Amino acid sequence: MQVALPRKLYRFASAPLGTYRYRVLYGGRGSAKSWSIARTLILLASQSPLRILCGREYQSSVRDSVHRLLSDQISAMGLGGAWDVQRSTIVHGTNGSEFIFKGLRHNPQEIKSTEAVDVAWIEEAEAVSAESWRVLIPTIRKPGSEIWVSFNPAQETDPTYQRFVVQDPHRALVIKMGYRDNPWLPAVLREEAEEAKRRDPEAYAHVWGGEPWTRSDAQVLVDKWVVEDFTPAKTWDGPYFGADWGFSQDPTVLVRFWLADGCLWIEYEAGGVGVELQNLGDLFRQVPGAEDYRIRSDGSRPETIRYMQTEANLDVIAAPKWAGSVEEGVTWLRSHDRIVIHPRCRRASEEARLWSYKTDRQTGDPLPVLKPGYDHVWDAVRYGAAPMIRKTPEPGLRAL
Ligand SMILES: Nc1ncnc2c1ncn2[C@@H]1O[C@H](COP(=O)(O)OP(=O)(O)OP(=O)(O)O)[C@@H](O)[C@H]1O
Ligand SMILES: [Mg+2]
Repeated sequence: MQVALPRKLYRFASAPLGTYRYRVLYGGRGSAKSWSIARTLILLASQSPLRILCGREYQSSVRDSVHRLLSDQISAMGLGGAWDVQRSTIVHGTNGSEFIFKGLRHNPQEIKSTEAVDVAWIEEAEAVSAESWRVLIPTIRKPGSEIWVSFNPAQETDPTYQRFVVQDPHRALVIKMGYRDNPWLPAVLREEAEEAKRRDPEAYAHVWGGEPWTRSDAQVLVDKWVVEDFTPAKTWDGPYFGADWGFSQDPTVLVRFWLADGCLWIEYEAGGVGVELQNLGDLFRQVPGAEDYRIRSDGSRPETIRYMQTEANLDVIAAPKWAGSVEEGVTWLRSHDRIVIHPRCRRASEEARLWSYKTDRQTGDPLPVLKPGYDHVWDAVRYGAAPMIRKTPEPGLRAL
């Protein structure tokens, strides 16, 4: 049996297990990292009995994991007959191989007691904390066992980037991937990458080039935001819910946030590109409490709002817009001591890095004009916070 993989991954996929301690694929979007690892592991586990732990920092349900990716790849590889896809595991019918799925952050004891793992695959590993690595690494102790890691770099200081890219660990195969290394790159992703390259070279270097983010004064939220785990206290104000509707390439986003101690706390997000109207209710229900609280949204889509009220049974209303509402929203966002983003909110942290002002071509100075894009989560927060942003509504102001 053979699987087709990017040429650059020949050694990654063909070296026998135990050759390395770590196999690491990192880099930009759409560079075939996840598919290549899934296919290689399915192949190896079809050939000999392996216990494979699929881990990520946060996993509230198996739905968050690579379970779906693995089962899709098993079908695509024509191996559906050999594997039994169960709700929380995927097991080989005859050789006893199995894939198991765990969140690292909230189950350190469970991770420690996971026995006899041959391969641990940690996906979206940019979010893995130093503590989770400390627990996981000595747990993977079977002779010849390996730790496979895939990620899109976020910040250079992140423990995962430091451990695997900056420090270059012993017996590690570390490969940087880009979308050009992916011979099967879907056309939509190529268009998006090329558009980003033309429009916003810094965002391109980060999202598509796989470079860690760098600070710049042109970033709207520069020096304001952090990614940190938190649990809301009883005394906090909220939760508040805000939604931005997607058009064509833009995502629809719902966020849930809190206000307390001078900070803005982004706790949950859900989002997707090209989500059909009839699926918006399910998308929103991924955010806890969406059914119980008022959701303020972009008012420019009254039919969508009406659908959400009548068909999806959610209390979605239009947030007002007024002349200067975007600028006042930005001022309000920046008026907090800190904007704390829960690590499960990947879109929020990506947009915090990338939402930017245009810069002057000659001096490089930020201009008072926002660049389009990477503003969906922050628009959603602005809508959700409209009553707090606009303290003195004009008499007769009407929601759109
Ligand atoms: N072996 C393959 N055969 C066919 N198509 C593939 C293969 N590998 C990747 N692709 C295509 O490329 C797309 C991107 O691959 P993949 O999701 O693995 O990238 P990634 O590097 O994990 O991206 P991201 O950084 O966004 O998670 C897939 O959705 C699929 O369409
Ligand atoms: Mg991936």
